[in-house]
Amino acid sequence: MIRLDAVGLHYVQGAGPGPEVLRDLTFVIPEGGFRWLLGPSGAGKSSLLRLLHLAVLPTSGRLSLLDVDVGATGRHNLALLRRRIGMVFQDFRLLPHLTAFDNVALPLRLAGQPEAQVRAHVTEMLHWVQLGRKLEARPAQLSGGEQQRVAVARAVVGRPHILLADEPTGNLDEVQSERLMLLFKEMNRLGTTVIVATHNEALVQRHPGQSLRLEHGRLVDHD
Ligand SMILES: Nc1ncnc2c1ncn2[C@@H]1O[C@H](COP(=O)(O)OP(=O)(O)OP(=O)(O)O)[C@@H](O)[C@H]1O
Ligand SMILES: [Mg+2]
Repeated sequence: MIRLDAVGLHYVQGAGPGPEVLRDLTFVIPEGGFRWLLGPSGAGKSSLLRLLHLAVLPTSGRLSLLDVDVGATGRHNLALLRRRIGMVFQDFRLLPHLTAFDNVALPLRLAGQPEAQVRAHVTEMLHWVQLGRKLEARPAQLSGGEQQRVAVARAVVGRPHILLADEPTGNLDEVQSERLMLLFKEMNRLGTTVIVATHNEALVQRHPGQSLRLEHGRLVDHD
């Protein structure tokens, strides 16, 4: 369960707080839910996903994730909680010195999985996103869409409880985008809570689902 009560976020700018980029957000997403996250550029979609990934903490209000009150728990628990959340970053954030294989393996190795298991899961996942021939390529040797698929594989390989995807089809063609949606929907069917930020209206129309819509950092519509 994801619960926000009057959550606000300021980024720090210079010595003081910058403008409030998220304001008064109150909503609940039940365990196993699916939500599109919509709204114009600059509305705060990535900022909200950053909050839900615990990369930043609310500057006001209360956020609870997987039944943990994020403001009331320690750093160690936050780190553990974070491992249960998969994130596809809008700008991929692959580690440039690691191969596609090692980028995707990272969350499993951090979680201490045995290497044989890591090899099996990573190989399967990279084949699924049709990168089975690029296991040893580094990010600089991959196209934008290929890097995006590595980022997706890394986010889902650990079967997270919550999957956050920030414009995950931004560099993909329609066939690849549909394939990705199949993957996200299957994970959702198996119990992962999925939130997908996108500008891709056609994709949303092909896959109707509940949505959160942001404008100027506020929730303007949700069902
Ligand atoms: N690190 C930061 N420091 C200060 N302000 C920031 C930072 N990151 C984002 N912002 C500001 O927060 C607001 C929301 O940005 P955000 O990236 O969340 O929007 P978005 O909805 O994801 O947009 P897009 O659709 O273009 O990805 C913008 O006004 C942006 O300038
Ligand atoms: Mg964004």
